[in-house]
Amino acid sequence: MTTLVTGGAGYIGSHTVRLLTSQGRDVVVLDSLELGDRSRIPGVPFVEADIADERAIEKACRKYGVQDVIHFAAYKAVGESMEQPLRYYNNNVAGSIALVHALLANGVERIVFSSSAAVYGNPDHVPVNEDAPLRPESVYAETKVHVERFLTSCNAIGLRSVSLRYFNAAGASADSSIGENWDMSQNLIPLVMKAILGASGPVRVFGNDYPTPDGTCLRDYIHVEDLAKRTSTHSTTSPPVASRWRATSAPVRRARCSTCCGWQKK
Ligand SMILES: NC(=O)c1ccc[n+]([C@@H]2O[C@H](COP(=O)([O-])OP(=O)(O)OC[C@H]3O[C@@H](n4cnc5c(N)ncnc54)[C@H](O)[C@@H]3O)[C@@H](O)[C@H]2O)c1
Repeated sequence: MTTLVTGGAGYIGSHTVRLLTSQGRDVVVLDSLELGDRSRIPGVPFVEADIADERAIEKACRKYGVQDVIHFAAYKAVGESMEQPLRYYNNNVAGSIALVHALLANGVERIVFSSSAAVYGNPDHVPVNEDAPLRPESVYAETKVHVERFLTSCNAIGLRSVSLRYFNAAGASADSSIGENWDMSQNLIPLVMKAILGASGPVRVFGNDYPTPDGTCLRDYIHVEDLAKRTSTHSTTSPPVASRWRATSAPVRRARCSTCCGWQKK
């Protein structure tokens, strides 16, 4: 009963892997290491491969007896996605299709997908709920919408999926042994922290006429360990969660992952 974690050497993936292993779950990580770091997941069975490498996926499924998948592997830089749409569609969409193809060929029919709240674009109502219209405003967000729809379509051939729409992840493990790689991240919190510590220039805050107390926009954050907990409860190998899967009649589910309280940028 092993969970395959794609992108498990990355920021959110490594915190989730740590949680799963602390719960006694069997895990194997598959990561290209293009943006990940294996030292974040010491002692965890590991396959260095791309999600588009169907032979590597099949081999991992057979060797480790994979039962379900948590799929984190993707590119996630919004600005970069606008400049390199082919690269983003290829990695995030084509890669996910190849992954699912290999999984189904090996009888693995359960997947938890790391989507993004970016699928909502600029929602009409806050807090946004799962039924809000999808209005992706970047290539990155488009790739998440496409994969969600692909997973939904694959329900017809036996795939059961959960798409978790994450808001911005932030923070590090409580023992501060793992966290976000500030050298690589283009996320706001690392940029702000580097500016505060004098490791970079000032951070520019765009917009001053939002309908908020100080006019700057609001962003929603979730602590990375809370996100790991939320993600792990949707994975299916532990008995309580397996029964939850059986209890629901919906084979395709979506859930928003956020604190629902915004934080202003200033
Ligand atoms: N960090 C956030 O705030 C946030 C918010 C919303 C959604 N997400 C989603 O959560 C997931 C994880 O995000 P993260 O912050 O941990 O990112 P990350 O860049 O730290 O981790 C992604 C990992 O996936 C690996 N990877 C990328 N493409 C791959 C491929 N083709 N084959 C194998 N491995 C590959 C990278 O090497 C890296 O280790 C992503 O899908 C991202 O879109 C993140």
